[in-house]
Amino acid sequence: MSSHPHLVLSGMQPTNTLHLGNYLGALKNWVKIQDEMPCLYCVVDMHALTQDSAYGHPKEVAQSTREVTAAYIASGVDPTRSTLFNQSQVHQHAELAWIFNCVARLGWLDRMTQFKEKTGKHKERASVGLYTYPVLMAADILVYRATHVPVGEDQRQHLELTRDISQKFNNDFDAPDFFPLPEPVITGHATRVMSLRDGTKKMSKTDESDYSRINLVDDADTIAQKIRKAKTDPNPLPDGEKGLEGRPEAENLLNIFAALAETPRDAVIARFAGQTFSVFKNELVDLAVEKLTPIAAEMTRLLADPAEIDRILKRGAEAASELAAPVLKDVKQLIGLIG
Ligand code: AMP
Ligand code: TRP
Repeated sequence: MSSHPHLVLSGMQPTNTLHLGNYLGALKNWVKIQDEMPCLYCVVDMHALTQDSAYGHPKEVAQSTREVTAAYIASGVDPTRSTLFNQSQVHQHAELAWIFNCVARLGWLDRMTQFKEKTGKHKERASVGLYTYPVLMAADILVYRATHVPVGEDQRQHLELTRDISQKFNNDFDAPDFFPLPEPVITGHATRVMSLRDGTKKMSKTDESDYSRINLVDDADTIAQKIRKAKTDPNPLPDGEKGLEGRPEAENLLNIFAALAETPRDAVIARFAGQTFSVFKNELVDLAVEKLTPIAAEMTRLLADPAEIDRILKRGAEAASELAAPVLKDVKQLIGLIG
């Protein structure tokens, strides 16, 4: 049994704008878990530097950090209950990441599928930062000895690496249970939201087509247009789970509906059984507009006062530093670094 008190940590990169996948796969669960355990949520601005859209674009990094902070709060992350901060203001993340670079093995990182997907055939042109990105993620989590990490399905492998690093550190320094083995919290009907243009591809910030995703800042007309144009197939909606086989677009839209409505998927399938996509899409438009447009409005309100956002981040960073400092001190002592 782990002796570590329950503690949540998660984060998102401030690159481009957040979309429905970020919201349903992660943010919605962050809000819920606030009622169950203490939570730390960071905007991982140092991770963002591994992306071409951020590196070399200082204004965008700063602006996007504030936007993502506003999106967290507008979605229901409460900065008076949860610790909300940007990663780079808590220097212990980077320090522990270096130590973890010496714990993690090349073979482990070589297996990371997200790195392979992001670099394709051009591995030699990728930054070293992109390669060790999951090591920094492990440091984000373990510098607080966090036990629960709510994320989308695509982060499962990175969390396994975090657990491997934790275990190896504990073994190598003869400190059983020093770091916990953090649990991924991957729940809900939409742990992997797919592109609206292609039900076999993940909805992503970097897809060239804006019609592939619904952004949290999209207005009602844009949401409606994107859903009406979403790819489907010629058949009516199925009357059971079985009828979804080989119909990724239908499955994705039904999952989105279930997640937004917070209803079991089979109830959604039963409700629309045999209906045309156009009937279903009308209902989905209404639901998405009802759930998402208040978030966009609240983001706009919050972003009108960037100084207040910066104050929230600073306050959060101070609280986070206080938790991280004693852990890093113990790490240094365990490994023989004086000071
Ligand atoms: P990122 O946009 O890569 O910084 O991801 C931030 C969070 O959103 C992570 O927890 C991801 O797992 C989650 N996420 C990103 N894209 C999706 C998606 N298409 N479906 C579900 N969750 C997602
Ligand atoms: N790698 C995560 C993503 O792309 C972002 C992230 C960085 C993260 N550090 C983290 C998520 C720590 C959870 C916990 O989505």
